[in-house]
Amino acid sequence: MNKTIWIIANWKSNKNISEALEWISQVGPHISKDDNLKVVVCPTFTDLSEVKKTITVGNFPIMVGSQNLSPFGTGAYTGEESAPILNQLINLAILGHSERRQNFGETDEMVAKKVEQALVNNITPLVCVQSAETPVPQGCKLIAYEPVFAIGTGNPDTSENANQVAESLKEKNGSGLEVLYGGSVTADNVSAFVSQPNISGVLIGKASLDAEGFVKICQQVSEKI
Ligand code: PGA
Repeated sequence: MNKTIWIIANWKSNKNISEALEWISQVGPHISKDDNLKVVVCPTFTDLSEVKKTITVGNFPIMVGSQNLSPFGTGAYTGEESAPILNQLINLAILGHSERRQNFGETDEMVAKKVEQALVNNITPLVCVQSAETPVPQGCKLIAYEPVFAIGTGNPDTSENANQVAESLKEKNGSGLEVLYGGSVTADNVSAFVSQPNISGVLIGKASLDAEGFVKICQQVSEKI
């Protein structure tokens, strides 16, 4: 296929530090070192430091991401995790996930500010869009199409429709955009999504939590690259 494929694990509010490290030790040795495969794990903020250390020591081909970051830099912003501090630990940040938009009142304007913070601090922003109409902030080159009906429901979009939405997103926002699909991705359906010409990978919630299942997903994708 010869394209770069992203596999991004979004753990959401799951796994304490020991559970996180167990996952890394089970998954790390099974990820193939391939320039075309980009595997990223996005744990809770609390897990980030230990996860990063364990990946570095094991020399595993896994990048680390966060699930959010502050729209502000360092300073008097109680309770926020700012990009100039996070960039010691992470390569990527998931921004504008629908769960943040729904539960934490995150707006397109806030997402755009977070993207700005990520970019000036050398963190790759991965913005979640819920449809082809969701605005893509300036400078953002990696997005995930995640229809709300498909998240955590076991009811994924079809790979054909996801491909069409990805194509419209590229038409609107530039052909350089990489578009991932997220929403009820499993080992059984991942191949269909990554085989679509406009889809550059997957963002996985529930099915990323089980180490064995996640390895299976990575192996399915490796066969398609
Ligand atoms: P899911 O979640 O794989 O559990 O549907 C995906 C996501 O919310 O990013």
